[in-house]
Amino acid sequence: MERKPREHWGSRIGFLMAAAGSAVGLGNIWRFPYLAGENGGSAFIIIYLIFALVIGISIMIAEFAVGRRTQLAAVGAYKSINTRWTFAGVLGVISAFFIMGFYPVVGGWSTAYIIKSFTGLLSNSTGIKDAFVGFISNPIQPVAWMIFFLFLNILIVAKGIASGIEKAGKILMPTLFTLLILIAIRSITLPGASAGLSFLFKPDFSKVNGETFLAALGQAFFSLSLGMGCMMTYGSYLNRDEKLPNNALIVTLMDTGIAILAGIAIFPALFAFGLEPDSGPGLVFVVVPQIFAAMGGIGSLFSAIFFVALTVAALTSSVSLLEVVVAFLMDQRGWTRKKSVYVSGGIMVFTGILSSLSMGLMSGFTIFGAGVFDFFDILTDKIFLAIGGMLLAIFVGWFMKKEDLQDELTNSGTVAFGLFNVWYNLVKYVIPLAIAIVAYIGITSIKQTGLMIFGLAIILVLGIFSKKF
Ligand code: PHE
Repeated sequence: MERKPREHWGSRIGFLMAAAGSAVGLGNIWRFPYLAGENGGSAFIIIYLIFALVIGISIMIAEFAVGRRTQLAAVGAYKSINTRWTFAGVLGVISAFFIMGFYPVVGGWSTAYIIKSFTGLLSNSTGIKDAFVGFISNPIQPVAWMIFFLFLNILIVAKGIASGIEKAGKILMPTLFTLLILIAIRSITLPGASAGLSFLFKPDFSKVNGETFLAALGQAFFSLSLGMGCMMTYGSYLNRDEKLPNNALIVTLMDTGIAILAGIAIFPALFAFGLEPDSGPGLVFVVVPQIFAAMGGIGSLFSAIFFVALTVAALTSSVSLLEVVVAFLMDQRGWTRKKSVYVSGGIMVFTGILSSLSMGLMSGFTIFGAGVFDFFDILTDKIFLAIGGMLLAIFVGWFMKKEDLQDELTNSGTVAFGLFNVWYNLVKYVIPLAIAIVAYIGITSIKQTGLMIFGLAIILVLGIFSKKF
């Protein structure tokens, strides 16, 4: 097969923005606050931060290194080093497909809320929650918005990595950041906000159990776009002279910073309005509009800008998920970019419709006790990403040459990476063990046992047939 020269990022800041764009998304602003709310607040946040800052950074460095070393996306990268490991890459592609099974639904909600900010959503502050529930269970509206959101993804990814993805991230990430700061300031200055701050910063460890740890670990992987080959794929487009550990550090700090900022924006307001912290996936869509509703006329404008920024954050993440699938089809099947995008995008429209309908019309249809949306969400977030990360750590630690890794992480000895040995031992010994323990405790204490066994079975089958891919 004739290979075209690989696309590369246009600039350093372009890569950083794209990688941070992938990391920062619905995971930080939609999911992190409601998970923290359900798991007792700051105790969860502390566990999450430890996982993100120790395991997350190390895995990100490893993904960048493997991607740039091989110049191939997930499946090809594993395959080119050891064919027995191809399944770990395939697991990543499946994870990308599954996450894209529910992510665009929430992306669609966010897009819809841009318009809804102007059409009466904010006029009746007690009805905001009912309005949300009514909207997501409607059989037509959220489906249409989901398809629109996916369509934007298809347009961007079809244009290619540097021109499409890079540009979107460069402009819109800073907007989101500025807005979150403004909302956080508004939120903490509301009367009664201090209860929210203590919820965020005074840990209550009585709420912590085995599931909390797995939730925090899964969230760390999800939020940092790890454990499914995404950062590997982005790393494969990275120039030889970039410092990988520095980039990983910056992306991780930005991502966790934005998650905490989202918490500071949401919880003080939540308590000020007398809402419950464990109200689940609707949290941002209920609390943030309340803040703006209390502002009067100008609130609509702020609300619209917030949802524009959230939609864009979601978009810079979902394009990276679509890119994992597309890069696989291009690298491994020799398809053109356009064909890969249209075919995989088409399948995602289908899974997205099922997911969206599972909030209403199809709520009675369950697989292993979970609706379609939850099926995709729980499988990826509670199993695939963490196990994917564990497999990567084992692969890098035990199946790659230490000298090759050192060479890659120091740009052939031209830049220093003083903590190389610390990183190497973490990846080789500590992380696989830590993930195995957390996954074991979490999976055995979780309610959806059938679903967990199904997920593990998929991984096992992939492993057995690894040579076939
Ligand atoms: N990190 C993204 C978010 O927080 C989601 C994502 C997961 C993107 C995995 C790519 C890969 O929204």
